[in-house]
Amino acid sequence: MDRIRIVGGNQLNGVIPISGAKNAALPLMIASLMTSDTLTLENVPHLADVELLLRILGNHGVDVAVNGRREHQDGSYARTIHFTCRTIADTTAPYELVSKMRASFWVIGPLLAREGKARVSLPGGCAIGTRPVDLFIDGLRALGADMEIDAGYINATAPKGGLVGASYTFPKVSVGATHVMLMAASLANGTTVLHNAAREPEVVDLANCLNAMGAKITGAGTADITIEGVTSLSGARHRVLPDRIETGTYAMAVAMAGGDVTLSGTDATLLDTALESLRRAGAEITVVENGIRVIGHGDAIRPVDIVTDPFPGFPTDLQAQFMGLMTRSTGIAHVTETIFENRFMHVQELARLGARISLNGQTARIEGVRNLRGAPVMATDLRASVSLVIAGLAAEGETLVNRVYHLDRGFERLEEKLSRCGAIVERISD
Ligand code: EPZ
Repeated sequence: MDRIRIVGGNQLNGVIPISGAKNAALPLMIASLMTSDTLTLENVPHLADVELLLRILGNHGVDVAVNGRREHQDGSYARTIHFTCRTIADTTAPYELVSKMRASFWVIGPLLAREGKARVSLPGGCAIGTRPVDLFIDGLRALGADMEIDAGYINATAPKGGLVGASYTFPKVSVGATHVMLMAASLANGTTVLHNAAREPEVVDLANCLNAMGAKITGAGTADITIEGVTSLSGARHRVLPDRIETGTYAMAVAMAGGDVTLSGTDATLLDTALESLRRAGAEITVVENGIRVIGHGDAIRPVDIVTDPFPGFPTDLQAQFMGLMTRSTGIAHVTETIFENRFMHVQELARLGARISLNGQTARIEGVRNLRGAPVMATDLRASVSLVIAGLAAEGETLVNRVYHLDRGFERLEEKLSRCGAIVERISD
């Protein structure tokens, strides 16, 4: 199994190209199930989760054509992928696939809207929390679907004439349930109004793409979204938005290791809250043409408290990385996680590097230390793993991050991007 070896102590200097967002690409790819025409997505990242979803969509009848890599001068490359689903080949999403990647559960929306039925496995457990699917069930029921649970599967059936637009208030903000309701309501009869919808940029990206396909969605990016149902959608060409979590991760790496890096092909407005926290911690962040410049000083990191929240709050997907940064602050910082109840697996691993962290419920208290020391570590989810990479960049000596497959789910060419900026980071294949 591959590992990442990091020798800490080098500053980062140069340019890091930011890839297309994993969490935008996945729902956009799923939207290809909604039309018999071709949906073309540009800037699709090359990640394990994307490759798995390509296989899953293939089972449902989507033909995929991947355009050759387009190499840019700065070393970045982006793929353009054409998705064509002339007919839905299978309305079942099996346990073997849904249990590997939760987002594949979201096919329930397009399958139900286009075919009137879907049989989708319940996703099962998850390393970061229980992550139930009650909001999807309630929301689709509100559109008239019959939702029955049987032998670990949800059997969803639309009424005879198709789904029916309705007003639905999410009892809790959910990105995935908002994606699914956008897709399902786009092909429903009549108008749907969603209240307390997720406002994440990835929701806006999906709405923009659906609108380019002929949907009538207004209000995406606010808590209230209106969807006027249409009878069919057509093909479109859409560019996946930049990955705000990858952007924030590398910004935190620079703040931690020190140096001067331009994150290219990204957009600061996607992560205002996280960048503001980084500025308070002492990083210098400026918006430049087509990106963000981050100057980190490494040693003078100020303690900053953060609380994760749905967008526009501090993203839970950057919580572990920010905690990594705070392990070397000059004081005491508190990190509170409000989205997932078990998203602190990195705490014990950071402690192996010498961090001083104590947990009290959903809040971690981090007492900054002068130096971290490299060690073998591992993590059980993607963002936790990358927080260990960041900490390793600033630790003395060698850090070996095990279970690299977590990183490969969400960070494209991580070791290459960091080593181009002067870090000693390499992949070891055993
Ligand atoms: C998306 O997951 C992201 N995944 C997650 O990123 C991200 O952490 C999360 O949103 C929050 O921002 C993708 O976009 C593929 P939610 P999602 O539904 O949609 C609860 C990463 O590392 N909930 O917004 O699954 C849920 O348990 C991943 O890239 C219910 O209670 O998250 C959680 O506490 C990890 N019932 C909260 O809502 C439901 O039916 C928010 O989850 C659905 C969700």
